[in-house]
Formats: sequence, C-alpha cells, structure tokens
Amino acid sequence: MKERMSTSAILDAMDEETKYLTPIFGSEASDAQMPRTRMNDEPVEPRIVYEMVKEHLSIEGNATQNLATFCQTYMEPMAARIMSEVMAKNAIDKDEYPMTADLENRCVAMIGDLWHANPDEEPMGTSTVGSSEACMLGGLGMLFRWKKLAKDAGIDIYTEQRPNLVISAGYQVCWEKFCRYWDIEMRLVPLEKDHLSLNMDTVMDYVDDHTIGIVAILGITYTGKFDDVQKLDELVGAYNKEHSNLPIRIHVDGASGSLVAPFVDPDLVWDFQLENVWSINASGHKYGLVYPGIGWVVWRSKEALPEDLIFWVSYLGGEEATMAINFSRSASQIVGQYYVLMRNGFKGFREIHLRTLDVARYLAAELEEMGIFEMYEDASNIPIVCWGLKDDADVEWSLYDLSDRLRMSGWLVPAYPMPANLQDVVVQRVVVRQDFSMQLAIKLADDLKKGIDVLSKARIVAGDVQEAAKAGFNHGGRSSVDRGDEVQTKTKPAWK
Ligand SMILES: Cc1ncc(COP(=O)(O)O)c(C=O)c1O
Repeated sequence: MKERMSTSAILDAMDEETKYLTPIFGSEASDAQMPRTRMNDEPVEPRIVYEMVKEHLSIEGNATQNLATFCQTYMEPMAARIMSEVMAKNAIDKDEYPMTADLENRCVAMIGDLWHANPDEEPMGTSTVGSSEACMLGGLGMLFRWKKLAKDAGIDIYTEQRPNLVISAGYQVCWEKFCRYWDIEMRLVPLEKDHLSLNMDTVMDYVDDHTIGIVAILGITYTGKFDDVQKLDELVGAYNKEHSNLPIRIHVDGASGSLVAPFVDPDLVWDFQLENVWSINASGHKYGLVYPGIGWVVWRSKEALPEDLIFWVSYLGGEEATMAINFSRSASQIVGQYYVLMRNGFKGFREIHLRTLDVARYLAAELEEMGIFEMYEDASNIPIVCWGLKDDADVEWSLYDLSDRLRMSGWLVPAYPMPANLQDVVVQRVVVRQDFSMQLAIKLADDLKKGIDVLSKARIVAGDVQEAAKAGFNHGGRSSVDRGDEVQTKTKPAWK
C-alpha cells in the first residue's frame, strides 16, 4: 500500500510562491498560534493579521448586546470616518494643531453653556480621557481650594486630621482612587433600601472644617438615580452662611446624567444655576454619544479653578491653559465629540435621548409586569433599568442565574450586590443606549421571559457554584471577578 504523506509534510512541500495566493483561512498563520508572550520573528501579511486579530476578538461578545456598559457602542459612519482621519494628531500639540485645540475649546464652551455656565464668570474646562480623569481633576480643584482657604483661616492642614470628601456610598471607584492617591478621608453617606441617593437628612452631619467638598452624583452607577443637587445646594448655602471663611462647594459627578438631563429635563435645576456647584464632569463617551476615550470637566469660573491646576503650553505664539492629567492622546475623540454636538444639535440630542428613554421605559414596564421583580430604577432620569427579586418572589434561582441564562443568547446583563450597607440586595441593571432599538428591547424581554421559564423548571444547584458565577459590572466601581478565561493554547509552535 502506498504510504500517505502527513498533512504537515504536504504543506511544507508546497511552493513558497503559492502562499501569496492562499486564502487567509488556508494560510500558515491561520494554522498556528498567534504570538502570545514573544513576538513572531517574521512579519505577517496585513490582510492575514487583520483577519486573525478580528477573529480572535470576535468570540468575546458583541458591543451592542453589552448592556453592562454606559459607553457608546455606535457612531454613524461619517463620525467614525472623521475620527479615523485625525487619529494621527496628538491633541496636546496645541501649537501644531491649533484647529483641533479650537474644537476642544468650542466643546468646553458648548458643554459649559448646556450647564448654564455664565461666560462673564470666565468658566474653564478641559477634555479628559473619561470621567475618571475628570473627577480626579474636580477633586484636585476642591483639595487645592480647601488648602488655601484652610491656611488663610488659620487651620493647621498638616495635623493628623486628614482632609475629607463627602459622597454617597453609591460612588464610582474613581472617587476611591482620588481619595487614596491624595490621602483624603472618604466620608460615605450610606444608602438605604428606601433611600438610594445622597441622604439629605444626614449629609451635612459629615461635614467639618476639613471637608474639601461634597460630591453629588447625577446618575449613581449602581442604579442611575440622581442625587438631589438643588436640595444639597440649599443645605450647603445655609452651612456657608455660618462658615463664610471656609465655605463648602459641590462637585457634580455627572458622568452619565449631565449630558442627558439638559436635553430631556431642562427644568431640572442641578448645574451652575446653583450657587455652590463649582465644577461638573461628564463622560463624552457615555450619553455624550462618542466612542470610549473622552470626558469633560468644567469649572464655573476662573475663581473656582485653583491656579495650581493650570499649566501653560505654547499656542499660536501665545499660551494656552492646560489642566488635563494625561498628556499625549489622539485628537479623534475630541473631534468626534465636536462632530456629534454639531451633527445632532440640541434637538437631535433631545430626540435620541428621549427615544432611548422610551425604549428603557418599555423594558422597565415589561419587567414590572412579570410580577417577581422589585424595580429600583425604571429609567426615570437616564435610560437605566435596575431591578432586584421581590422578597416574596417564589423562585429558587438568583439573578446571577438569570444573568447566565441571558448570556446564552448573547446578552450581557450583570447581576451584582449593592454597595456598603445594602450588600444583601442583589440587582440587575440594563444600560440602554442609542443603538438599542425597540426591536432589541422586545427581543431582550422575550429572552428574559424564556430564561425565567427555563430556570423555574430547572433543578438549581445552590451553593458555591453561584458564588463562583458572580461577576461585577462595568464601570460599577467594583472589579469583575476574574473568570480565569485562559485562551486555549495549541501545542503547535507560534509563528516563526
Ligand atoms: C458616576 C460615575 N462617575 C465616574 C465614572 C467613571 O467614568 P469613566 O468610565 O468615563 O472614566 C462612572 C462610570 O461609570 C460613573 O458612573
């Protein structure tokens, strides 16, 4: 009998030349492990690298079905096009790219205007990589301001008592980072089951002469709820009357809400209309409708932004203030932000957000009708739906199980415990974004019903299994459990 050649021997014997004619998924590269810990020695054809990397990424779930993230998962083709065309420009090179710097300044001015900044007070602001950087800057503004005022008031700022920041326990992790990096005591106002935002009855009990400021959250990450900034401003105003040498100011962490409220609820008073709101941040990449990588922080006036935070870079033969922490980054996101502001205008933003809210409210109504869920948020402010199981829901499964069931249809709808004081309450949250159409919401509601049906008929294995399946949620301030998703390694050698 004729001896058969092994597949690899046949491939080795193939003429090198023919390899350029080989289809991508017949290429040598498609039959070897992609580089893992050491670079490949030889270059690889771009069309093959493109396809291989794309394939590698394709199995991790698609962005549209990721209902955990607040970040934009859709931009229209012209927006993506202009963003990719300016990718090579470094936004910090203001002298070299003055027109990009000009677009950034226009964005700051337009966003400040949305938040009722008064041009006569000379508001200042900057783009950032996201709200984390923007909150860090807002926090630093408060810290530097407090240090100066405290010194002037004769307070020894170098005593054992650290400066403190007052915020609700529903804070996002960036505030914990800020406090840890700058050695600030984080004074947490607890959330309670029937009180899921900053408690106005107790918040001022946390304030003393070492308080650098209070953070109000417009869109608590866990639930989407808004703190009552207007009421807080009233309380702070009364406090400041008694403490005129060391007044307290408010930073509004509007990561998600500050670019929704001005459009859908223009009568809600939460911004620079309030005397004590001195700085506000937003994530341009959340409801600012830009792909991830952009945030904004604006101070109400020149006075509100301590000089120490400002650095000067050369610009058109003169100087331009810069206060971002990060230095080099692509101009794409800034240009993308300008594009969507101009493209949509006020009416366009309003329409997109109102429609997104409508879809979220449909989903909330569907969930409520199922009868077993307690609704913690039904998209009353921003398009976020958050629910838990009712105490008397007669089910043997948990929301972690339901989250797993939804994953089988591609939906990422995380289940997670609420923050300190409420850890026993497990909730699930959907962040509805512009690319989540009614069609998809109907499909999700359907899959939820099917999932519940399957779980209700299943025999549930309780115990550690559920514990192991727990996952955090994106941007929630708590890191996800590492699921140990090691990519399977092939025994074949990596590319030569
Ligand atoms: C209230 C709040 N603050 C800050 C952040 C951090 O935002 P970013 O992801 O833009 O850094 C988030 C993110 O979810 C948030 O919800």
